[in-house]
Amino acid sequence: MKRSELCIGIDVGTSSLKALAVNRDGAVIASAGVEYEFDSPRAGWAETHPDIWWRAACEALRKLTSHDAVRAGNIISVGLAGQMHGLVIVDSDDRPIRPAMMWNDQRTAEICEKAEREITAAEIWRLTGNRLLPGFTAPKLLWLKQYEPETMRRAKNIMLPKDYVRLRLTGAIHSDMADASGTLLLDCENRKWSTQMCEALSIDTALLPELFESTTPSSRVHADGAAATGLPVGTIVVAGAGDQAAQAVGTGITTEGSVACTVGTSGVIFATTNEWRPTPHGVLHSFCHAIPNRWHLMGVTLSAGGSLRWWRDSMCADLVATARTLGVDPYELMLNQAQNAPLGCEGTVFLPYLSGERTPHADPDARGSFVGMSTRTTREYLTRAIVEGVTCSLREVLALVRQTGARTDRIRLSGGGARSVFWRQLMTDAFELPTATVEQTDGAAYGSALIAGVGAGLWPNIDSATDHIKESNLTNVTSAAADFPAIARRYAQAYLALAPWFANQAKRDRADGTIIG
Ligand code: XUL
Repeated sequence: MKRSELCIGIDVGTSSLKALAVNRDGAVIASAGVEYEFDSPRAGWAETHPDIWWRAACEALRKLTSHDAVRAGNIISVGLAGQMHGLVIVDSDDRPIRPAMMWNDQRTAEICEKAEREITAAEIWRLTGNRLLPGFTAPKLLWLKQYEPETMRRAKNIMLPKDYVRLRLTGAIHSDMADASGTLLLDCENRKWSTQMCEALSIDTALLPELFESTTPSSRVHADGAAATGLPVGTIVVAGAGDQAAQAVGTGITTEGSVACTVGTSGVIFATTNEWRPTPHGVLHSFCHAIPNRWHLMGVTLSAGGSLRWWRDSMCADLVATARTLGVDPYELMLNQAQNAPLGCEGTVFLPYLSGERTPHADPDARGSFVGMSTRTTREYLTRAIVEGVTCSLREVLALVRQTGARTDRIRLSGGGARSVFWRQLMTDAFELPTATVEQTDGAAYGSALIAGVGAGLWPNIDSATDHIKESNLTNVTSAAADFPAIARRYAQAYLALAPWFANQAKRDRADGTIIG
């Protein structure tokens, strides 16, 4: 009997790595995950050693490949997705020289300001269609040049987080258009490294990985990679995609007019476009999609689910313990409690800027804040204020997408935030648009498995690979939507009032050495 073909998808996330196996029907037949933490050696910094990702990949893949259903199948290809914008830097032995600086690391604020002044923001936009933002990869290289010249002297190659897992699995230093877009060294329109941008920033193009479209089978699992993971030697590994483009594939956001809202650690609004469409001043990211000749617009709330996770870990230990006893998810208990507080939290506002702010203000100095509390404010109010604050931030991003004229007929919600009926309704009312989730909830890992399947010829293209994705949990706008403009205004004004304080405080912290960069 012919063994069924399986594609493996891997997502190298911020706080966990997920691997899963998908069959020809698009069904997930087995999955495995491994959690890890990232380090924050200083306020605003975020780092993980790349070997933590590789060890997690080995553990997850070993679990996956020893699963009965996977052993009975025939693994034909592997796809990689991962957190975007991180900087992995390796020496001539392909060993990481230092921990990777991540997408939510804000240390390059001053470097970006200086580059946007000297090269000019207009020229950077002309070359890339985007702004030079602190989370992106290019300014991390400039930071290393300034503060760690020895690291740069030893550097042989740089790569993105998922591409380090590929290096250990196959020996190849490759990347894809979607993930490369987030370095800000890509000519997104022509889908190749921008030699002009590299020149402008004095970055040696020899450091950069070779680029492929996402579905290209660009390398194969080598003997060491196979021994470490249980994957068969010689299995095709496709170029893959940054997590947001892979997530879009995994939720069927592949054609113009389809919009996704994903609430994971970060919160993302993602709209597919048929042409490269940079926005004025790069207020939204305009990047390549994981599909040839398609692009996307994107705006990001840096700490979305990340804010709720911070709240759970720092302030809800009792609920975590109760949840463990009851065998339920602590977020369920937290969000149940939040529903006891009124919509708008009687004026309490949370700004979810724990790792700075990206869209729409691009303010790395912003910090998480609760404002407008009274003696009536309880933890239930504060939990609800966090959910409402994240939702208001995403509403601001969506408003920018709409201003571009992009069609937004309906929004597909995904990520942890979409699991809660309460949060789904809140987003639907705040966005003033019907929403839906999809039946398949494995997001970026699932999308990377579909990309791998196309690369191995299981489906002719991404459109047919995503054909079977079905909507569920259709949610309509309720009368609560009428209250959102006022809630969103209060949220926006809280930031405007605090912005000068954030800026002055950051200046003082830099002067006294609390912040480097
Ligand atoms: C996207 C972004 C994050 C990371 C982590 O621009 O910074 O969503 O990809 O998921």
